[in-house]
Amino acid sequence: MPALFLPCAGGVEALLADECQRVLARPHGVEAARGGAIVHGDALDAMRLNLHSRLAQRVLWPLAHAGYRNEHDLYDIARRIDWREWITPQQTLRIDTTAQRSPLPSLNFATLRVKDGLCDQLRDTTGERPSVDTRRPDLPLALHLTATHATLYVDTSGEALFKRGWREAKGEAPLKETLAAAMLAAAGWQGRAEDGPLLDPCCGAGTIAIEAAQIACGIAPGLQRQFAFEKMLPFRAHQAAWRRMKDEARAQQHAPAVPVFAGDVSFRMTDFATRNAERAGVRQAIEFKTADALQRMPPAERGTLMLNPPYGERIDAKGRGSRESFDEGGTPAAFFSQLASHWKRHYAGWRAYVLSPDMKLPQALRLKESQRTPLWNGPIECRLFRFDLVAGSAREPKAATDS
Ligand SMILES: C[S@@+](CC[C@H](N)C(=O)[O-])C[C@H]1O[C@@H](n2cnc3c(N)ncnc32)[C@H](O)[C@@H]1O
Repeated sequence: MPALFLPCAGGVEALLADECQRVLARPHGVEAARGGAIVHGDALDAMRLNLHSRLAQRVLWPLAHAGYRNEHDLYDIARRIDWREWITPQQTLRIDTTAQRSPLPSLNFATLRVKDGLCDQLRDTTGERPSVDTRRPDLPLALHLTATHATLYVDTSGEALFKRGWREAKGEAPLKETLAAAMLAAAGWQGRAEDGPLLDPCCGAGTIAIEAAQIACGIAPGLQRQFAFEKMLPFRAHQAAWRRMKDEARAQQHAPAVPVFAGDVSFRMTDFATRNAERAGVRQAIEFKTADALQRMPPAERGTLMLNPPYGERIDAKGRGSRESFDEGGTPAAFFSQLASHWKRHYAGWRAYVLSPDMKLPQALRLKESQRTPLWNGPIECRLFRFDLVAGSAREPKAATDS
């Protein structure tokens, strides 16, 4: 069975491997790797992972893996593949190249040589060449180069999997859906009754709340979009299975066992988030409210707060701390100290998960974290801090010594 590679954000690898095992209901043949997970699987597995994975960026199908020293070697690697199995000359392709310590001076040239190898092989066997379409290719390919080896994959997803198909209104700094899902997975929140309610009081475009509500309702993340594999030759034999897989996924949807609450101080953002939730099919599962996080009262006795709060100068805290200074890390300092006081006074019994690039966030909050999980927000290294809120849990400023 081919070793499918599912890339993911840094820090998510082990969570993704767990998710793949759950999705495929198979404990074997799945392993976490650097930057993703490897799954030994077939076409049906690739389809199922595209439909159900919340954490993977794509599902890549390996075609070739070989040592290389220069662009000619890349040409030969591409030319050795029988492309008739994957593409007709009337179809289009695109190649995306990534590299880690590759000795080649130009990745564009490397990409071009792989395309030449593919086109020459197909012209030799069929007399015609396919063309390139960078926007809507029938066959998207991914080339990954290390210092010594090249791996060529078919990208069975096409558009990256964080594009679930429901987002229109973005707001200013939305999280990727895959990262919001990773925060929930890292917290172990699965929308079961025992997980309790979830609240994002700084919800922006609503990404965390919408992911959470879809999880709580058993809605597969890929049900609203299309995938590149749907047009690919080797997957045509599985069209009936694909329809069944989607029907089964629809049949598994259910009413949520726990409520999800969200809101933002900006009416515009709450409105964006509400419209996104509508399109994601979870409007009824989320209670939205335009409110200041510094004043919002808990909607339940216990639950999980989950947020990526305003950070730096891109978005100002618009609540009561808005005119206060920023500390060295760019955090609106007064906002966080007021947030901590509010939580301490009213949210005892809740757990808070806060994603931030500011390693000193616990000091700003005057709370001691019980867990910090490294997660990457694109190129930005972040921590998901967990705080167990108990009355009087804010520590004295003098005790703020960790880094
Ligand atoms: C980094 S964004 C959150 C992005 C969100 N997770 C998403 O995916 O779109 C922070 C949000 O906090 C909101 N905000 C700022 N101050 C606030 C306050 N005092 N109460 C509630 N929300 C606030 C901003 O309007 C902004 O939408």
